[in-house]
Amino acid sequence: MILVTGGAGFIGANFVLDWLAGCDEPVLNLDALTYAGNRESLASLEGDARHVFVQGDITDRALLDTLFARHNPRAIVHFAAESHVDRSIHGPGAFMKTNVEGTYTLLEAARAHWTSLSADAKAAFRFHHVSTDEVYGSLSAGEPAFVETHAYEPNSPYSASKAASDHLVRAWHHTYGLPVVTTNCSNNYGPYHFPEKLIPLMIINALAGKPLPVYGDGQQVRDWLYVKDHCTAIREVLSRGRIGETYNIGGWNEKPNIEIVQTVCALLDEMRPDPAGPYARLITYVTDRPGHDRRYAIDARKIERELGWRPAETFESGIRKTVQWYLDHADWVAHVQSGAYRDWVATNYAGREAAP
Ligand code: NAD
Ligand code: DAU
Repeated sequence: MILVTGGAGFIGANFVLDWLAGCDEPVLNLDALTYAGNRESLASLEGDARHVFVQGDITDRALLDTLFARHNPRAIVHFAAESHVDRSIHGPGAFMKTNVEGTYTLLEAARAHWTSLSADAKAAFRFHHVSTDEVYGSLSAGEPAFVETHAYEPNSPYSASKAASDHLVRAWHHTYGLPVVTTNCSNNYGPYHFPEKLIPLMIINALAGKPLPVYGDGQQVRDWLYVKDHCTAIREVLSRGRIGETYNIGGWNEKPNIEIVQTVCALLDEMRPDPAGPYARLITYVTDRPGHDRRYAIDARKIERELGWRPAETFESGIRKTVQWYLDHADWVAHVQSGAYRDWVATNYAGREAAP
């Protein structure tokens, strides 16, 4: 079996669902079920013996040792993290704990397990670290997209903690020989995305008739990738990526935030028209995110050249599917908007002035 950490989060849940739809190799899913973890995203696997869910923390070494001894995973796909930049600004401690100490603890437990394997099993073992393009910092308008050799220049507590985890993974390979691969991916979107992030937040606020808060001038650029394309890329790197290498994953799809919000509004106008008028009337420019990175863009030629991966989804097809998914899953949407979610919205948005 494979061990997936953070498999109840947005990308992890999509990955587990895709994995088990495509093969019968069981998944041991270790997730602490923080505010971002959601068992409801995995409801279709209820009673499926191929999915073993354990609620637990990657900083818990004793638990990790027990799980390795009991399940003998042949690979780890490490998603578990604190993932939201705005939360890292309000409270960086959890990011250091999970993203840095958690990755360190997982690496050490993986190393102890790997050391005990037979020569063949050792050679086949993989530690796949799932990381982000944010470790490379921010690009200005004309600069070339991030390649794998770009300098690490993280700017937020979140990206600094992910950069630290990337460095640990690299060092555990270099020093101990642990067979690792790392992927650095751009912004994902799609089903089961927690509505603290731009696209699901805009869909959910629009449907509720609430303001659509665009930070600063809305001209920050992100490179959007449909989450299932990310899952496919991870599977390719896990099975055929070269040990010790990093692979950038992106959508070849750079767009300014305001254009994303306008696209969501236009799709909702078509799919769920509001008698009160076009959804774009709700767009509200608000105080910018501190230290806001201006532009991310991924050069994904290495993974295409070596592994033949390219995104299957265009932004137009992916965003349409995504909006439809949120319209079709009103229960999931209602349940994630718990008291804790409402507290977060108050923390992050209440103090933000509407820009003139
Ligand atoms: P998410 O916040 O939706 O999910 C994170 C999951 O990790 C949750 O289920 C949470 O319960 C779990 N978790 C948190 N702390 C834990 C701990 N200490 N022990 C065990 N489980 C814990 O995140 P996501 O958007 O699905 O991102 C997954 C990974 O992909 C992260 O490592 C993130 O840095 C990376 N990434 C995300 C994006 C993106 O656009 N979302 C892009 C590139 C890379
Ligand atoms: O680039 C990959 C990263 O993408 C991942 O590593 C992170 O885990 C993931 O959260 C995401 O980070 P961003 O900060 O880019 O995503 P977010 O959805 O929070 O914001 C996208 C852009 O939209 C960003 O420029 C900030 C802006 N934004 C966001 C929110 C929540 C707004 O304008 N208004 C908002 O309310």
